[in-house]
Amino acid sequence: MDSIKSPDDRPITEEANFLKLKNVDHVHFWVGNAKHAMFYWWKGFGFKPVAYSGLETGNRQFASYLLESGNARLVLSAPYSPSSEISGHHLAHGDGIKAIAFEVDDVEQAYQATTSRGARSEWTPKEEKDDDGTYITAAIQTYGEVIHIFVERKAYKGIFAPTYQPIDYPHQDAGIRAIDHIVGNVQLGKMNYWVNWYHQVMGFRQLMHFDDKDISTEYSALMSKVMENGSGRIKFPINEPAEGKRISQIEEYLEYYRGPGSQHIAMITGNILETMEKLHANGIEFLRVPNEYYDLLPDRVGEIEENLELIKKLGILVDKDDEGYLLQVFTKPIQDRPTSFIEVIQRKGSRGFGKGNFKALFESLEYEQERRGNL
Ligand code: FE2
Repeated sequence: MDSIKSPDDRPITEEANFLKLKNVDHVHFWVGNAKHAMFYWWKGFGFKPVAYSGLETGNRQFASYLLESGNARLVLSAPYSPSSEISGHHLAHGDGIKAIAFEVDDVEQAYQATTSRGARSEWTPKEEKDDDGTYITAAIQTYGEVIHIFVERKAYKGIFAPTYQPIDYPHQDAGIRAIDHIVGNVQLGKMNYWVNWYHQVMGFRQLMHFDDKDISTEYSALMSKVMENGSGRIKFPINEPAEGKRISQIEEYLEYYRGPGSQHIAMITGNILETMEKLHANGIEFLRVPNEYYDLLPDRVGEIEENLELIKKLGILVDKDDEGYLLQVFTKPIQDRPTSFIEVIQRKGSRGFGKGNFKALFESLEYEQERRGNL
């Protein structure tokens, strides 16, 4: 496959799948105003608010909403007190992803397996009980201040976790079905450290890598390696900035997030045309795609099922490799700081990440950086 370099052919050994992560259970954003953030995901991205925790449910520490769209689950939490850990995090980073949680069968095993391989503990296995049973978690630290939480719900019948109670909001589904990948931005020179960390501590394998020749424009560049877990269901690309003439998008992120963090979540849709019609109507803002991109597209990707006029009208990017093709779009930053954004992706055979789009995408990102005075 010429668009992908050095896929790692290592077989999936017992060792490499020792964690047996079932899936990404949820992604937890720590924000300044959970009610506003909930409204954005609800009315903007078509997620359904399904549970709430806060003063009314006996949680005196923070307000929190759980939202779902298909299998994708987000939790949005904001603090009640300036002494809250969430407040300190928000002061430094603004709104951002604090935790990427995995469902496991046995939290104790996951915690022991990772900490014995060198993971730093965030909290040791703990049981929280309420009328719905026992909810067990433990957590370890990854890049920046991001943590991975292991969640065990075998003995828990509640909607999410203790203090969370069901809420019922009417909603308009935009077609988002699952999380495809979550990208981490780390400092210059730290990509390989975190690639090794995911391999040694979590048993992930390297799926592919992109270097600065793949991902560069006149001004800036980055390097990226994609790590995936034993089942291939969980994919975490790790980016670091590469030398360029001007400040790269990764450096801008690191400056405004005040350190490493999660750059974007890619959300799967089964029909990106329908999803994009809805997201545009809902007011979600996307990166602009230059007209020239669509002049070159038919020659670059050949025959696809979708109508090219519609693809252009909706600002959708297309990339093809020898397994198939994919369609993707990227939002502008979803908070005030130029940090996290969202990708929406539909896969039609391709397991790639849109390498053929990197150049057009980065030029578009740099256009936005220029407008912010950050290029
Ligand atoms: Fe992505």
